[in-house]
Amino acid sequence: MNALDLLKADHQKMRDLFVAFRESAGIPEKKEFFEKIRREVEMHANVEETVFYPLFNDDEELAELVAEALEDHQEMRDIIDEILDAEEDEDFIDLMDELIDTIERHVEVEEDELFLELVESMTPTELDELGRRILETKDEISEAA
Ligand SMILES: [Fe+2]
Ligand SMILES: [Fe+2]
Repeated sequence: MNALDLLKADHQKMRDLFVAFRESAGIPEKKEFFEKIRREVEMHANVEETVFYPLFNDDEELAELVAEALEDHQEMRDIIDEILDAEEDEDFIDLMDELIDTIERHVEVEEDELFLELVESMTPTELDELGRRILETKDEISEAA
């Protein structure tokens, strides 16, 4: 399993959930989609922080990009916490817009910059090996949860 295909599939899953969230009519339904988005974001961010971002530590320029990516992850987690605390439906909707915008911007940067670096710096075999580690890490995270 190629690491890039796996990470891109996660991104696509999130984008599909955003569409489903926006198209759903009522607040209860939207809250169910929020829960799915939350689980997806937590898993994906944890996997990236464990096996993907550390690959770029040795390159100064890329390390800076990763530092920004980690800040984005923190921002996503903070907005998710705010959503969990939101009491008014209006606040829930506003915060969801903010969360979706933040994630969309973040995954674009990853796909436009970090993913390209990965393709350039790894052989297909290494990308498959990294893919295996991503799947293993996902399993470990689900078992720990
Ligand atoms: Fe990320
Ligand atoms: Fe990502």
